[in-house]
Amino acid sequence: ISLTLTSLALALTAGTAIANCDPGERVVKFSHVTGGTTHPKVVAANSLADRVNTEMNGKLCVEVFPNSTLFGDSKELEALLLGDVQLLAPSLSKFGSYTPKYGVFDLPFIFKDMDHAIRFTKTKEGKDLLLAMDEYAGFVGLGYWMSGMKYFSAGKQLTVPSDAEGLKFRVQTSDVSKAMISAMGASPQAMAFSEVYGALQTGVVDGQENTWSNIYTKKFYEVQDSTTETNHQLLAYLFMTSSEFLASLSTADRTQFLQIADEVTQAANLNVKAAEATNRANIIKAGGKVNTLTPAQRQEWVDTMSPVWKKFENDIGKDLIKAAAGA
Ligand code: LMR
Repeated sequence: ISLTLTSLALALTAGTAIANCDPGERVVKFSHVTGGTTHPKVVAANSLADRVNTEMNGKLCVEVFPNSTLFGDSKELEALLLGDVQLLAPSLSKFGSYTPKYGVFDLPFIFKDMDHAIRFTKTKEGKDLLLAMDEYAGFVGLGYWMSGMKYFSAGKQLTVPSDAEGLKFRVQTSDVSKAMISAMGASPQAMAFSEVYGALQTGVVDGQENTWSNIYTKKFYEVQDSTTETNHQLLAYLFMTSSEFLASLSTADRTQFLQIADEVTQAANLNVKAAEATNRANIIKAGGKVNTLTPAQRQEWVDTMSPVWKKFENDIGKDLIKAAAGA
């Protein structure tokens, strides 16, 4: 009993969502790494759980584990293949060991804004990419969930790329991001999301790049001088499952589940811009500093990062890059 109570207390402290699953319902675990209440991924994952648990009551029961409480960045994809979790929404920057193609989403300044990125996901090339890994890894993309554009923060104010020279930046496990940081004359350090706050606080790294929603909900602004509105990259997720999980559902349940998954995806992407604006304002309200750029300063960031495209052209594919840039 004491073990049960301890686990329950731990789960509650960590904000783990414990759904009331009934006997006979198939438990479907959704693990992710973000937190807070205003984060686009938190909102979308909880909305998926609410809808499945209401509309498929008696059949499926989705339990959401946020904040890396079930699996963190390094374990979640493996856990999906092992059947220890059924749903994930990792950043597209975390698939480098499975496919180089998702690097297209990481190319600096390829998308003008999130609407541009959403347009690309609706093209044939964008839709085909959802299944880029299925044949050899058993992963199935259910939809793209947008998170926001990314901004640099550091322990000092960054106005132009040369301000970042010699600094260490935490990046996701993306070769494109690493090359981008190197192009700035800085050093990239790949690290799990759950470790970023501590690494910024202790000075293991000097800076990081993320969306307003992540910077706010993980309080990165507390341990950084300021955040600069570079808009240099997109952060988006692959809302995904395994082919094994889908195959284990009856045809009727699979159809209903996929329909809900699609509707939740469409709705989630409509709310992201508002969530980002709210969390930008939340950072400022909480005392965080935001630096804006003049067009000339912004152009310096674009110019510094532009050689990165050429470097990944062959791995990603010229046609794919063209389709994304022109969407
Ligand atoms: C990160 O690692 O910075 C992000 O991918 C976290 C997330 O899931 O938004």
